[in-house]
Amino acid sequence: MKIFLDTGNIEEVRKAAEIGILDGVTTNPSLIAKEGKPFVSTLKEIIRILTTHNRDAIINGEVINTTSEGMIEEAYQIAKIHRNMVVKIPLIPEGIKAVSYLSKKKIRTNVTLCFSSAQALLAAKAGAFIVSPFLGRLDDAGHDGIELIKQIRKIYDNYGFKTQILAASIRSPLQVVRAAEAGADIATMPYDVFEKLFKHPLTDAGLEKFLSDWHKYQEKEKTQ
Ligand code: G3P
Repeated sequence: MKIFLDTGNIEEVRKAAEIGILDGVTTNPSLIAKEGKPFVSTLKEIIRILTTHNRDAIINGEVINTTSEGMIEEAYQIAKIHRNMVVKIPLIPEGIKAVSYLSKKKIRTNVTLCFSSAQALLAAKAGAFIVSPFLGRLDDAGHDGIELIKQIRKIYDNYGFKTQILAASIRSPLQVVRAAEAGADIATMPYDVFEKLFKHPLTDAGLEKFLSDWHKYQEKEKTQ
């Protein structure tokens, strides 16, 4: 499974990328607005950091237009920022129309705001590089986000669709694990969830015990 960070925050990207297991970053208009910095320069800085550690790491930048013509024009602007750019396009009829055109022009798209298998089927039919089902928002609404991942995986495997399933809107490490079990290709998550993936109290306690025993052994060695 590829691991992406869902953020527009440069410092979070730097800290995660330095670990050496980060495969990409997703941004969206809300995440960019939250940082309050220019869109293009933010994407360029993120891609600079990412590719320092992983030359093939992917950065996702989202269009704002809602007509297919406007999305296509924006997509070309975003795609030309860097070869690793993927253009995020909302899963609306005009978006699918734009994706269908862009896929034929070999521009990679991430179809976002996906909440059903029917929508995911359309994204794959249009040639999307990635589809982003929003697990957390479905769970927040009382639906089963992981079940959607399973359904999309089955449909894509039935027909050999190459569109990658990116589990998005993730709220916890458990959702990352469940998405991996369900066959998602990618999980994108906020930095705090990424941090939590590493944590287990038994690991911390075990390491503390190892070190404590070693130091006692070293002290004993000195007195002999
Ligand atoms: O960036 C796409 C998605 O991961 C955002 O989800 O629900 O955290 O806003 P959410």
